[in-house]
Amino acid sequence: MKQQEKEILFQIRDLRTWFPITKGSFKKVVGHVKAVDGVSLDVYRGETLGVVGESGCGKSTLGKSIMMLEKPTGGQSLFRYGNDFKDVTKFSREEMFQFRCKVQMVFQDPYSALNPQKKIYTSFEEPLIVHGIKSQQEREELMSRALRMVNIQPDYLMRYPHEFSGGQRQRLCIARALEVMPEVLVCDEPVSALDVSIQAQVLNLMKDIQKELRLTYIFIAHDLSVVQYMSDRIAVMYLGKVVELADSRALYDDPMHPYTRALLSAIPVPDIHNPKKRQVLEGEVPSPIRKPTGCAFHNRCPHCTERCKTEDPPLRAKAGDETHLVACHLYDAAVSS
Ligand SMILES: Nc1ncnc2c1ncn2[C@@H]1O[C@H](COP(=O)(O)OP(=O)(O)O)[C@@H](O)[C@H]1O
Ligand SMILES: [Mg+2]
Repeated sequence: MKQQEKEILFQIRDLRTWFPITKGSFKKVVGHVKAVDGVSLDVYRGETLGVVGESGCGKSTLGKSIMMLEKPTGGQSLFRYGNDFKDVTKFSREEMFQFRCKVQMVFQDPYSALNPQKKIYTSFEEPLIVHGIKSQQEREELMSRALRMVNIQPDYLMRYPHEFSGGQRQRLCIARALEVMPEVLVCDEPVSALDVSIQAQVLNLMKDIQKELRLTYIFIAHDLSVVQYMSDRIAVMYLGKVVELADSRALYDDPMHPYTRALLSAIPVPDIHNPKKRQVLEGEVPSPIRKPTGCAFHNRCPHCTERCKTEDPPLRAKAGDETHLVACHLYDAAVSS
């Protein structure tokens, strides 16, 4: 499918979510944690957009900002309603309520997402009551339908979360998100807490559900191989910004940003006769409180020049390929302006 033929569902523009740092009893603001610091991207209907980056890069905050679980400091998040877009950051309570039916989130830790003291039935019924499904019969039908989608028998609703395995609990969390029949799932590291053997099972199930319900996924993970397996396109995040955005295949075959290259070279290859030359990332992600000047990656980049230390490179399309975007001075001659 060509880019032009795809329907844009979300238009995220210069989204910023900063957390204030306060000091003293008067709570004077002395700085900000710039967790999300100017993210712009489109999400297409029916795709899986992967979001990848080291821990602390702002992936979860971006997910929560899209869901409005964290109120963005600035920028826009435009969501499609018919032929129009509405800015979610300006929604009233009522509009937000409707929006939450369309966009649901699945978190990393399924145990904390389900109340351990309540039966699954109660945890599942609550969101349906909140969303105004008055008839118990209708609620039970929706709950059973959601459970069947994740291959769990409806009579398991009477059990407690501890009676399930980690993989089953994550499937339950996916089912709970599906109950209200959303269009979009924002999945924040949905398999990171699971054993590797169970991860594939849950990922494949998510793919099947996506196909059946024509869902759009925003799939967040720190593990590039997991993101690669799931995603049509991938956004690579570094210190609150998207530094590269491309089709999954193109990102793998022709990674442009030095950060993406380093992330890719860290994926283990099972072929001992053909080992990859590792490009090891030196140091840690700098603090989002005191971000480096210029390109935020410059102090860890093997190609850093004087310009990178002072000038922040914008995210621009590669010349001749408007689907592959990169924010790096290395490509100043090879990107369209
Ligand atoms: N509620 C908060 N208050 C202050 N700082 C926060 C809050 N949530 C996240 N952060 C900080 O924002 C940065 C990005 O965090 P996060 O979005 O969780 O990254 P990731 O999911 O990529 O690991 C981190 O430095 C984190 O400490
Ligand atoms: Mg996170």
